[in-house]
Amino acid sequence: MSHKFIRFEKEDKKVGVITLNRPEVLNALGGQLIEELGQVLKACEEDPKIHCMILMGSEKAFTAGADIKEMQAKIYSEAFLEDFITKGWEKVSACRKPIIAAVSGYALGGGCEIAMMCDMIIAGESAKFGQPEVTIGTLPGAGGTQRLPRSVGKSKAMDLCLTGRMMDAQEAERAGLISRVVPDAVLKKEALAIAQTIASYSLPVVMMIKESINRAFETPLSEGLKFERRLFHASFSLEDQKEGMAAFLEKRTPKFKGK
Ligand code: CAA
Repeated sequence: MSHKFIRFEKEDKKVGVITLNRPEVLNALGGQLIEELGQVLKACEEDPKIHCMILMGSEKAFTAGADIKEMQAKIYSEAFLEDFITKGWEKVSACRKPIIAAVSGYALGGGCEIAMMCDMIIAGESAKFGQPEVTIGTLPGAGGTQRLPRSVGKSKAMDLCLTGRMMDAQEAERAGLISRVVPDAVLKKEALAIAQTIASYSLPVVMMIKESINRAFETPLSEGLKFERRLFHASFSLEDQKEGMAAFLEKRTPKFKGK
């Protein structure tokens, strides 16, 4: 499959690396790029040899957000009727296999929102996160006002969305938006190491963990705990649970089959 704005590499060890590649506009998320991203994610979901994906951009920009040129003249009825930034974008949050966002440079507006749709964000020291929509006469539209406060709390989410300022990788890590900061030069290597670790485990177990953590954001604690308990019980139906625990007891490395 070849794409105009996306590069895809299937790394060894069950990892797919998706690179946004529209450098002339800092990987602005136009309709075609989003369409291609959805196609690549669908292919990864359907490929049993891929267990985990990495989403990255360039050194200068993960992505500078939705394509302002495409949006500028759009009128309300068009945005409403096409349900603008819904269908394609939600392919990221709907993905059932884990996605690691590896961010260097700008992750602004829709770029910060796409990163937050992924399952974890690791960042190079150059990363800058922000929701600058207020500076161009609009507001975050792909989850910024909803996912950001869940990550960083109300005060910092208000600060970022109302002032449009950027925060650097250190601040983003302190605030809980990202899980790790690493030197830019090793960002891809670190992301690959994390992805390969995840991919070495039982795929159904990994997918159950993802689903269960995401459920925490959708339900009261009592329901979330019940959901987790049911999946925990369900894991006892897997050969991988028998193998994983037997391997521990026999002091050897488990051989997971994804069953
Ligand atoms: N959409 C379209 N084009 C963009 C873009 C975007 N989001 N961001 C940058 N570009 C283009 C610029 O227009 C410029 O193109 P030309 O060379 O043709 O002029 C090119 O990319 C390089 O950008 P700059 O010259 O501006 O680069 P810089 O280094 O001086 O500044 C920046 C970098 C601070 C990221 C600046 O480009 C910027 O502020 N970009 C816009 C960020 C933004 O507002 N994002 C939110 C978009 S709205 C949104 O995302 C809504 C949502 O919730 C989904």
